[in-house]
Amino acid sequence: MISVNNRTFHLQGKTYCYVFYVSPEGYLLNFHYGKHLPPADYAAEAGLLLEPYPQLRGEPMRQNLSTWPQEYPTYGHLDMREPALEVENGFGNRITELRFREYRILKGEAAAPEGLPGVFAGSSPCDTLQITLEDSALRLEVVLNYIVFDDSDILVRNAVIRNRSGVAVRLTEASSFSLDLPIRDYEAVSFSGDWGRERRPERFALHQGSSVEIADNTGRSTRWNNPFVMVCTPESNEEYGDVYGFNLIYSGNHSTVLAMDTANHLRIRQGISPRNFRWDLAPGASFATPQSMLGYSACGFGGLSRAYHAFLKAHLMKSAFVFRKRPVLINSWESFYFDFTEESLLSLARTAKDVGVELFVLDDGWFSKRSSARSSLGDWCESTEKLPQGIAGFAQKLREIGLDFGLWLEPEMVSLDSDLYRAHPDWIIRVPQAEPVQYRFQYVLDLTKPEVLDFVQGTVCRILDSVPITYIKWDMNRMISDVPRPGYVHEYTLAFYRLLSALTEKYPGVLFEGCASGGGRFDAGLLAYCPQIWPSDNTDAMMRLKIQYATSFAYPVSTICNHISAVPNHQTHRVTSLETRANVAYAGIFGYELDLRRLTPEELTQVRSQIETARALQPLVLDGDFYRLRSPFETNECAWALVSRDASRAFVLCSRVLAVIARNRYYDPRLCLKGLDENAVYRDVLHGTQYSGALLMNRGIVIDYPVEDFATYCLLLERI
Ligand code: GLA
Repeated sequence: MISVNNRTFHLQGKTYCYVFYVSPEGYLLNFHYGKHLPPADYAAEAGLLLEPYPQLRGEPMRQNLSTWPQEYPTYGHLDMREPALEVENGFGNRITELRFREYRILKGEAAAPEGLPGVFAGSSPCDTLQITLEDSALRLEVVLNYIVFDDSDILVRNAVIRNRSGVAVRLTEASSFSLDLPIRDYEAVSFSGDWGRERRPERFALHQGSSVEIADNTGRSTRWNNPFVMVCTPESNEEYGDVYGFNLIYSGNHSTVLAMDTANHLRIRQGISPRNFRWDLAPGASFATPQSMLGYSACGFGGLSRAYHAFLKAHLMKSAFVFRKRPVLINSWESFYFDFTEESLLSLARTAKDVGVELFVLDDGWFSKRSSARSSLGDWCESTEKLPQGIAGFAQKLREIGLDFGLWLEPEMVSLDSDLYRAHPDWIIRVPQAEPVQYRFQYVLDLTKPEVLDFVQGTVCRILDSVPITYIKWDMNRMISDVPRPGYVHEYTLAFYRLLSALTEKYPGVLFEGCASGGGRFDAGLLAYCPQIWPSDNTDAMMRLKIQYATSFAYPVSTICNHISAVPNHQTHRVTSLETRANVAYAGIFGYELDLRRLTPEELTQVRSQIETARALQPLVLDGDFYRLRSPFETNECAWALVSRDASRAFVLCSRVLAVIARNRYYDPRLCLKGLDENAVYRDVLHGTQYSGALLMNRGIVIDYPVEDFATYCLLLERI
């Protein structure tokens, strides 16, 4: 709900309110972002902001922009802090001063950023507040959008910058939002990582007078840092404390700056990374920044995560699969890598069908001369040596077995050794003065060239039009280097979205899964098109505890794909039981990535029952609430629970990484569950035990782990 009173804008979501006002000079100043407050308290806040400094030497001095909490600050007029916007103007300087001009409210609408993925109204009420700020000397206009959803604690912001003057200006920094929070002790949590160890939460204190930037400049959103960042008060934990989240709906270079001034006011700004960025705005032109989702919870990290999960599914992810049953799949990669024949694939497919798998995904290695990572990307024609009747013939054989067909593609790439590169060496991203950098023997295609985009789109359409494919794994296995001009990565990202949006609209029945060397592009921008993403190439169950746990801070578990792979695990060489691997994988989109033919008959029976369990758990995965119960980053254990919205069912995973000395169970720490009905009685159908909701939630239960390393224990609770 949005209300305006006396030049004060009051935005109210489910439990938060966000209030700012227009000062007498026309500056947009923030009064409050947090839990609801009675309106009278805002007036007091205005009094504080306008209170003069004590009279020191004669003249009383007014407070001013140098400390005021601004909604969209620029640098250098009087505010010398971190700016949201930097513009090189026609006078050759970067001084911009924005003042309020007007506002309007778009009832029932979520204003969309042009060319970028954006949130939508869906079935619940939402309104957009558009505030227009202006530098009247430069004739530069900034429209700030605030999209408020009555039933959610996520507030969506972005900015659109428009040049109304007769001369060109150049943007060198254009944040999606800026937010000033009042003096308090703050900590932050970022999610950094690399291949095989994606999204490790890092919690740190913010210090007076210093700023921290959390950025990724690799051309993909999340090789090093996820755009999701949290800010909290020091006492915050999973259940308590004021916690704020900031996540950008964007898949390119991004940056979040957390800057504390010398008095401990905190400024947060987030947007496209200013590194190697610039955007020229011709007279009359405008520039839309990606949307940021700001989240607030008074109930700690858990509350914030659940708010994001529900919001992404209801208001960002467009795919028809969001709440639809997903197929249990077998992926060929870790069984065969590049080394397969049609017969080896089909014999795996037959075993897979026999245990209940529904979809066979043919990963890398199926096209042209691709027998290693050294060649053939771009030549998307099947290798008839491996698949004598092509992928169409292979799909037909799968259909006869009773399986759907899914295919791996890496459409944005070309190998040095490929017919495509030999025919079009000018289609790759490069600079004229240097040899282009190869990485995994491949280059990135320049999607900003219309002929290249047409080729890539045409290739994917040709495949999807000629073969009955129900699933695409869209990979992207290198960073974008050699960028030919500042701002190019944003141009590329826009072109990538044009491509994905055209394809996902044309093929709504195809399930698109995102991937980038594992989880190198796990972001909200991609989720707008792909309802699920491969989170990591590291499939070791103990590492997955951490990767899945950390990913869940920002993203619903229904977007995280979990595959059971072979032991010793190919990445860590660790041996975990088949049971442990499945128990960890249940909280997500479940599948297999191992050569099932090598399993014993007993193990295959186990797999069959795992698939039945995964199917039975799917409604909880797609639509349940996720609770993190014990952190694998802080303890020797990990625990989480999926609870149905009506609290009638819950699936709980507990894992103890290393065995501890076997003693009387009374010595074990108890696990308290969350989200259940305290007044109900639950039966654990896996063990035939019965507990009161009050016991499960308040006193906690002792988990009966087997005494072994990498142990897991699950509960499937049903309300009696
Ligand atoms: C990436 C993906 C893997 C696999 C390989 C194929 O690394 O993350 O899952 O598809 O590419 O080359």
